[in-house]
Amino acid sequence: MIIMKSRYEIDLMREAGKVVAACHAGLADFIKPGVTTGQIDTFVESFIERHGMTPAQKGYKGYPYAACTSVNDVICHGFPGDYVLKDGDIITVDMVALHKGLHADSAWSYAVGNVSPEAMRLLEVTKKSLFVGIEQAVVGNQISDIGHAIQTYVEAEGLSVVRDFIGHGIGRDMHESPEVLHYGPPHKGPRIRRGMTFTIEPMVNTGSYETTVDADGWTARTVDGSLSTQYEHTLYITDNGPEILTQL
Ligand code: MF3
Ligand code: CO
Repeated sequence: MIIMKSRYEIDLMREAGKVVAACHAGLADFIKPGVTTGQIDTFVESFIERHGMTPAQKGYKGYPYAACTSVNDVICHGFPGDYVLKDGDIITVDMVALHKGLHADSAWSYAVGNVSPEAMRLLEVTKKSLFVGIEQAVVGNQISDIGHAIQTYVEAEGLSVVRDFIGHGIGRDMHESPEVLHYGPPHKGPRIRRGMTFTIEPMVNTGSYETTVDADGWTARTVDGSLSTQYEHTLYITDNGPEILTQL
């Protein structure tokens, strides 16, 4: 069942989304060679808590940290720790703020120092693919129109879309209906209606889309060691188009 949100609930999700967006803006300055992924996690946890909200990933299904920090070939759900970022790395930071019972979720990828042309192009195409998907998130379309547009764009650029992790409805639960795939045929699934809130969060690889999960049960990597990046926004569907809640 897709849960439509009230104006009151949207106001809280918007407040949570602004804090997540401000945290990402802070990370853009904070992330540089020499910083550890553990320091990024501390930055995220204290930023969200300082704004009176809860970093909702910590403890979610046993996930141990406020942030997911996914470096180079890690697709998503990377554990923060002692790893020291070096010039040329790319990193995705994913976080969720919980505010008076409502969630906002956003992941963003960052270049560490100077990265290769291949990595720079991956970052650009993945970010653009998120906005290609957002363009389809309009009343009257069907959910699968989003993924179809993302896959068509990404594959025309010679890159691949991860299949094993998807976008999702969000609200009082971090993960609600509908499922939002980033690939597949158009004109399938529920019709998009005013009042829906869901994420779009494409993960794009330079090599194959296949994934493998480390022994920690969380860290998801490309099987071929190729690079992966991700951009995610939480959206609210209005009659005038999608409002990006996780944006300043
Ligand atoms: N924020 C992630 C998402 O986009 C959830 C990661 S799972 C967690 O859905 F355990 F880390 F929270
Ligand atoms: Co999400």
